[in-house]
Amino acid sequence: MKSNSPNLTWHNSKITREDRETLLGQRGFVIWLTGLSSSGKSTIANILEECLIKKGYLCYVLDGDNIRHGLNTDLGFSAEDRRENIRRIGEVASLFADAGIITVTAFISPYKADRNSARRIVGDDRFIEVYLDVPLSVCEKRDPKNLYQKARTGEIHNFTGISAPYEAPDKPEIILHTAESSSAACVNEIINYLLSKGFIEGKDE
Ligand code: ADX
Repeated sequence: MKSNSPNLTWHNSKITREDRETLLGQRGFVIWLTGLSSSGKSTIANILEECLIKKGYLCYVLDGDNIRHGLNTDLGFSAEDRRENIRRIGEVASLFADAGIITVTAFISPYKADRNSARRIVGDDRFIEVYLDVPLSVCEKRDPKNLYQKARTGEIHNFTGISAPYEAPDKPEIILHTAESSSAACVNEIINYLLSKGFIEGKDE
């Protein structure tokens, strides 16, 4: 994105990402979860975080509902606001990964173009897109916050899957089916991917 502030200079630190990664004994990268509301993003993100921490990896979850209480409290659910939501999260996730932290994001992130922008900001080689492929009917049945119900009656507008679109990824690195597999099994799939691609090593627990 073009800056509105001219006359800026980028300051390079003497310390590099590699220095920080060496210090932490891990790589910094982003696991980007995407899927409908109630598809299980927060659940998977939190179990994954716990699992990685137990294995000795520093991990941090950026979660849609939480971030919208703070950093993105000024944003709603129009396509433009969602784009800005995801742009900021892409930037924040990129900084976290640059700090050497395994960063897990849990946002609906319904638009392909916005997710691809986040991928560009973070860097393709450290961005793992995980699609929670769950039928709308299952998410609607779960509906822990009654949001689908409110969307159906028109109390909530622009609700993803009902009155706003969700664009499924074409080639996500990982596809999870939380309707058919347990959360633990889904997290295992992610861990196995990370091991097989060398993002993490089999550290002793
Ligand atoms: S995103 O589309 O911009 O990525 P984000 O993940 O930050 O969305 O926020 C989604 C959460 O906001 C949902 O889990 C739900 O709790 C809440 N929410 C409130 N209104 C809406 C809406 N119109 N569409 C989707 N989610 C909504």
